[in-house]
Amino acid sequence: MLTDPVWQMTYGERAAFQGVLEELRPALAIEIGTCEGASLRRIARYSSEVHSFDLVEPQLEVPDHVTLHTGDSHALLPEVLERFAVEGRNVDFVLVDGDHSAEGARQDMEDLLRSDAVRETIIIAHDTANELVRAGLDAVDYAAHEKVRFAELDMVPGHLGHRQFPGELWGGLGLVVVSASDPRDADETAVRDWYAHHARALEAARDAPTRAEEHAALQERAHVAELRVAELEAELARVQQRKREAEVEALHHERLVRDLTRSPSWQVTAPLRALKRAARRRR
Ligand SMILES: C[S@@+](CC[C@H](N)C(=O)[O-])C[C@H]1O[C@@H](n2cnc3c(N)ncnc32)[C@H](O)[C@@H]1O
Repeated sequence: MLTDPVWQMTYGERAAFQGVLEELRPALAIEIGTCEGASLRRIARYSSEVHSFDLVEPQLEVPDHVTLHTGDSHALLPEVLERFAVEGRNVDFVLVDGDHSAEGARQDMEDLLRSDAVRETIIIAHDTANELVRAGLDAVDYAAHEKVRFAELDMVPGHLGHRQFPGELWGGLGLVVVSASDPRDADETAVRDWYAHHARALEAARDAPTRAEEHAALQERAHVAELRVAELEAELARVQQRKREAEVEALHHERLVRDLTRSPSWQVTAPLRALKRAARRRR
């Protein structure tokens, strides 16, 4: 379990995945996304019959109880499920790990839940921490299917890539438990959201440096604004000083005018100025 070099799951995911299979020991199992066959080897070890789907034909030697289906799961899976339903067979276990687009993941999950061959089934979805896969799986209306006992999309939380795929969100196992014989009670919620949505928490952690940058940019703007305020305050002080100087000068001139008009020479020459004004009016 720890040494497989091509198994695209973390150790925690591998352990949980293998643990579910060991407990369940499915009679009939489906895998969407064969790839290099790592998860298929585990499913095959614990299951009596396995059908594994991939767009690309896998270069694999498989045991007799494993059937490989090459092609688009969105076309092939509903056909195979329909055949099982007509035969009255139940699919005990499914791994959803094929199309990682939001629409693709949603369609695979909805095709499974719609099928009458999916009655008593454990569905595990991989990469539930990835934004696209998670958006697709979050868009599924689990509550519309009474046979869905619960969907817990963070059964094993995913991770934020560090040395490998830095900044990308991958991994995470989601669990959907289906039981038509023992359906959900009316007061039970289909989607278990008792914990924080793990993928969103990871996204927030990933975007935290951006928030630190935003904080630094805001601090820079505040600093520039403070400098401007200091400049304007200095300008205001200069203008107020000029105003005070102008007031002193105005007082001085008022005093000069008052002293001049009260002087004896000004009073003696008053008739002369009156004559001058009269002459100007006649002209
Ligand atoms: C992440 S790998 C699967 C890994 C594998 N389950 C494991 O753990 O070893 C995803 C696989 O899904 C296949 N795939 C992508 N879109 C698909 C589709 N629409 N139908 C079927 N397979 C698809 C890809 O070719 C790829 O091999």
